[in-house]
Amino acid sequence: MAEELFITESAPKAEKYKSLIPQIEALVTGESDLVANLANIASALKFGMGYFWVGFYLVKNDELILGPFQGPIACTRIAKGRGVCGTTWAEGKTLIVPNVDEFPGHIACSSDSKSEIVLPAFKNSEVALILDVDSDQLNDFDEVDRAYLEDLMRIIEKLL
Ligand code: SME
Repeated sequence: MAEELFITESAPKAEKYKSLIPQIEALVTGESDLVANLANIASALKFGMGYFWVGFYLVKNDELILGPFQGPIACTRIAKGRGVCGTTWAEGKTLIVPNVDEFPGHIACSSDSKSEIVLPAFKNSEVALILDVDSDQLNDFDEVDRAYLEDLMRIIEKLL
């Protein structure tokens, strides 16, 4: 297992993802424990990309429950259809929120979070978990994030 990530901090976002995602794939290859893998993925994204908060919520008993994350403490349970995470679960598709204050029902775990992207991973055609990435900058996520992070969700699905 690699013990260090190699990312050029000054590189454009797409270049960083292009370098980071194969390193994440290598990091999880050969490890069968889901929590260990999600924990390393959260850390790799947080420190590789420099986002404010990166974490997973897992579908358990008809609720989203906080899983491995990096960043400030966060709410532990989210109902289906609530907030950005619960809406992503209900709709089964990626949501990009340029300004969290303008998203109806947004759940503010930290007032420093300004924009976010939330993506689902599927098992047997059902959402099994979601990845939530928050930025302390407005409008920080775009189609570049969507494309690379959706590739990452397909890698995560192989772990489920
Ligand atoms: N903002 C999310 C809640 C999770 S935290 O941001 C970590 C939401 O509205 O679902």
